[in-house]
Amino acid sequence: MGKAPLYDESYLGNVKAWSEYYKAKVGFRNYWYAAAFSKEIADGDHLARTILGEDILFRRINGKVYAMKDRCIHRGIKLSDKVECHTDSTISCWWHGFTFRWSDGLVTDIVGAPESSHIGRAKIKVYPVEEAQGMLFVFIGDKDVEVPPLSEHLPPGFLDDNRILEGEVMVIEANWRMGPEGGIDEIHRYLHRTSRLLLDTKATMPLGHTGVTEQCKIFEDDGKPKGILDDYSSGNMYFEVDIDGQPSVVTGVRFADTGTKRKRTVSTSVWLPGVLSVEGFPEDGGVFYEFYVPVGENQYRNFMVLTQTCKTDEEASAFRSRYYSRWREYTVNDFLMQDNAARASAGQYYKNDKAWVEERLCREDFMLIEWRKLCSRNSKGVQTADHLD
Ligand code: FES
Ligand SMILES: [Fe+2]
Repeated sequence: MGKAPLYDESYLGNVKAWSEYYKAKVGFRNYWYAAAFSKEIADGDHLARTILGEDILFRRINGKVYAMKDRCIHRGIKLSDKVECHTDSTISCWWHGFTFRWSDGLVTDIVGAPESSHIGRAKIKVYPVEEAQGMLFVFIGDKDVEVPPLSEHLPPGFLDDNRILEGEVMVIEANWRMGPEGGIDEIHRYLHRTSRLLLDTKATMPLGHTGVTEQCKIFEDDGKPKGILDDYSSGNMYFEVDIDGQPSVVTGVRFADTGTKRKRTVSTSVWLPGVLSVEGFPEDGGVFYEFYVPVGENQYRNFMVLTQTCKTDEEASAFRSRYYSRWREYTVNDFLMQDNAARASAGQYYKNDKAWVEERLCREDFMLIEWRKLCSRNSKGVQTADHLD
């Protein structure tokens, strides 16, 4: 233990109001994280994934998913390089046959040394896993910490009955903090004015809102999800911007049938440890979620999840068919990729810790600062170099 910090300590004095966030380069520890869509692991299948710098092997056994550290305690090879499960309840390392029980990590046998004193004593780390709404979640935390309910680390409403999900996952080459900050960014609508989604939905997209109140709702009650919410209620939209004295050079998108009014009520919120929630996007009544899960220092996994509340099977299959015929193309592959391109580009800059003190935020970027402060106030721990594989 005791490796050098992952961040440049000389900047800590410049980020005092949100120093834990600055330190959390590879994420916050002692939280539940999205690991995969359930459909990514069929029964009897396994999946190797790096989450917050920890290599983890998942396996579905008779419907239930288990997770184990993907590194043999004997001499450190990756169990996932050649998965050998001789029984339903165990996995054997493919080198000398150290055999671990999925449920608790106990060494039950050693094929190459059946008399070893490690048997029945030594353990490999196993991770708490939960499956909900067609997604798999894993708790990345310390040994002795009490594991809180999954609902504490998800946006309120995500676990509602009748919520139907469809979505995609991809790895973004950027630090994970580019994820939530791209999601709650107040002044980036400009980026989306060319999205084909706007044509498809006839959605009005202003260039921005005036009259920023620098206020957002903050949720930080004990035992509840911690997040900040902006309901876009402040100010008027504007659609034309002059550039260097030339009038209306840049214009937003405004459809005649919606005028300057919002087509629907939209609010955006973001929750620890890094989950975005957008109401009314991309369709009325739906909620869009995005999970930003650190892989390492400069990579994160982005789960883009569209949901709708469906009371019947017919409603659910209609939503799924809208997803595959429409939303996947216009929302995921077009609109959201605009955000992801910006995040990947910003990721190049924020690779250097100096970026956090050199950035020139505007007053209208207050959501970013509120988010950083919220994380710092409520952090249950930060992933350090000692935790990384
Ligand atoms: S390295 Fe796994 S059993 Fe030896
Ligand atoms: Fe966006």
